[in-house]
Amino acid sequence: MNGEYLRKSNNPVTPIISIRKLSFRYYDTPLNVLDNVELQIKAGEIVVIAGRSGSGKSTLLRAINGLIPHQHAGDYSGSVFVDGLEVQSVKMSELATKVGYIFQNPENQIFMFSVERDIAFGLENFAIPTADIRKKVDWALDVLKIKGLSLTAPHELSDGQKQRVAIAGAIVMGQKILIFDEPTSLLDPFTARSLIEFIKKLHDELGITILIVEHRLDLVSRIANRLIVLDEGRIVYDGDPRRVMYSSNLSVYGVTEPTIVRTGKLLNLDGFISRESFPVSADELVADLRGYEPSRQ
Ligand SMILES: Nc1ncnc2c1ncn2[C@@H]1O[C@H](COP(=O)(O)OP(=O)(O)OP(=O)(O)O)[C@@H](O)[C@H]1O
Ligand SMILES: [Mg+2]
Repeated sequence: MNGEYLRKSNNPVTPIISIRKLSFRYYDTPLNVLDNVELQIKAGEIVVIAGRSGSGKSTLLRAINGLIPHQHAGDYSGSVFVDGLEVQSVKMSELATKVGYIFQNPENQIFMFSVERDIAFGLENFAIPTADIRKKVDWALDVLKIKGLSLTAPHELSDGQKQRVAIAGAIVMGQKILIFDEPTSLLDPFTARSLIEFIKKLHDELGITILIVEHRLDLVSRIANRLIVLDEGRIVYDGDPRRVMYSSNLSVYGVTEPTIVRTGKLLNLDGFISRESFPVSADELVADLRGYEPSRQ
């Protein structure tokens, strides 16, 4: 293995996102909103970020997609590298080819006359030939299974469809990293669940890296390999979602524990399921209850 190979960003040894000693304070906040954050994310991970309101989750996402420091003024120290680019020293437009960002409210990024015009919008700023734009938009429509909506006006879409259009716009440049800020907050429980399952499919098909700020840990802990909990701008937990939830009391940090986890912890304490089981869904909990015979332990 030579040095050149090791430097390539898609090498598993090199994190695709590397944050070193990052501190940030908006000019109008008295204290640091991010405080000495150290975080390495490997290509292909699905990382969930949780924490109470105001703990700095959206600010951390902005420090990765470049809105911080490029559009939000403040005191910034430390460094953020995204796929080999130092966020602070490259243009937002260059970062946009690496990171797709899906706002909490897709209304904020859907504003054109038709779905396909919306998806093409980002590409039009890059002097890409029209035929290539067409190809990329068709690809994104296809991946998101929204071909039938290409000529629909955005205001005629349901919230779930808007979410898909926003995702199509965020992957159309072949971005390797997708960032979601509370993607399910406007969706009903059923649509929320299908969105999370869809994000996992997208990850598996495209091999992309995903960061999601999300409160519904019951939904995201099924797909994530990592859960990060922020408190006052610091990382207080970082690990396998099941282990983090079962070994801590996240309500201290303003994070609602999923009902199944709360139940699983009690059954675990009472010896009804193995101490090694960390169920996060009803199916898993029932399977653990059925399969466990305390007397054999
Ligand atoms: N654009 C801004 N200008 C000034 N202060 C801001 C700005 N955005 C956020 N803040 C402040 O930074 C702190 C962290 O905010 P942030 O939005 O990152 O929290 P959050 O964890 O995403 O919260 P929520 O769960 O409510 O979305 C808060 O004190 C907030 O008031
Ligand atoms: Mg937020």
